[in-house]
Amino acid sequence: MSPRNGPLRIGIIGAGRMGAQHAGFLDREQDARLVAVADPYSSAMAERCGVPHVRSHQELLARGDMDAVIIASPNQAHVTTAVDCLAAGVPALLEKPVATSRAEADVLLAAEREHGVPVLVGHHRRHHPAVAAARDFVRGGGLGRLVAVNGLWLTKKDDAYFDQEWRRSKGAGVMLINLVHDLDLLRHICGEITTVQARTSNAVRGHEVEETASVIVGFESGALGSFLISDTVVAPWGWDQATEDDPSFPYRPDGSCYSIAGTTGSLSFPQLAHYHHEGTSDWTRPLSTRFVPKGTGDSYTNQLRHFLAVARGEAEPAVSVADAARTLALIETAQRAAESGATETVGPR
Ligand SMILES: NC(=O)c1ccc[n+]([C@@H]2O[C@H](COP(=O)([O-])OP(=O)(O)OC[C@H]3O[C@@H](n4cnc5c(N)ncnc54)[C@H](O)[C@@H]3O)[C@@H](O)[C@H]2O)c1
Repeated sequence: MSPRNGPLRIGIIGAGRMGAQHAGFLDREQDARLVAVADPYSSAMAERCGVPHVRSHQELLARGDMDAVIIASPNQAHVTTAVDCLAAGVPALLEKPVATSRAEADVLLAAEREHGVPVLVGHHRRHHPAVAAARDFVRGGGLGRLVAVNGLWLTKKDDAYFDQEWRRSKGAGVMLINLVHDLDLLRHICGEITTVQARTSNAVRGHEVEETASVIVGFESGALGSFLISDTVVAPWGWDQATEDDPSFPYRPDGSCYSIAGTTGSLSFPQLAHYHHEGTSDWTRPLSTRFVPKGTGDSYTNQLRHFLAVARGEAEPAVSVADAARTLALIETAQRAAESGATETVGPR
């Protein structure tokens, strides 16, 4: 791929909530500009942005003036769309989840290998400065031996969110849309997850897909973790409220979303408060607190800048299809565990 001088020309595929957010990030970025938008049902975003609208990603690719694309269509369209982009030689930032099943992700992996064109999967949280700091601290032994991890993502999505049929149907659900972010981060920060137990519920809305899940995970290291997630409750705990990463969600500086505990200390996320004992360690002694330093920036801006470097051939995707497929395999394992009631093993890498 030959690096291009000047701003990269970007097309957006899928002009809904996330597509509009990407258009906003592009608008603020000097090294890229939006050139056209593809959406079968709506031209509103293209009109707002003052760029041409086309009805399909095939029409967008046929224009031939795209250096890269951002794919923000419904989950069920991700793989077929991305495969066509790769065949056209166009690098893609593909929204998460990478696919709706591990088998589908394998199709994309094969296309990536065949065409040698990169895909960055939109697990944007990986680009948050607190994530890099937590990963370095935990993996560097800052907590001693990792033993126990707990996570929460509890919030209430508005009824209108579910007017889109795809969000109520197989291929969506709170595990594939939201838990996929959290388990991706837990494996990134704390190491690979190998076993999963799960219970799910759709008791409030009664949609085909789950709205609540309780998941127990086993890490390769032997550490244990638990995660509780629901998009139908009023609560302050979760990434969106705790990080101030996305201005759409009111910030709660008092809420954390992950608690990570080891033999010599523990860490709250995203505050990165490190709780430990000075000297002898036992439960009757007061805990001291220090804060682990972290960098600056928001994850979406960092992700876009990284994507531009990937599209210019200057960087490897920080979240590759293979990496995202491993996270997807975890969600599939959780879905299987919820059905079987048993402890399920995540398949081979
Ligand atoms: N990274 C994140 O935190 C994050 C947040 C929200 C959504 N997402 C992901 O972004 C994607 C879109 O979610 P959303 O909330 O914006 O959904 P949405 O329903 O608001 O928007 C989807 C848009 O895609 C269009 N569309 C439908 N079929 C299409 C096709 N075949 N080709 C092109 N466009 C098509 C629809 O008309 C709609 O405008 C999903 O995969 C979702 O998981 C990621």
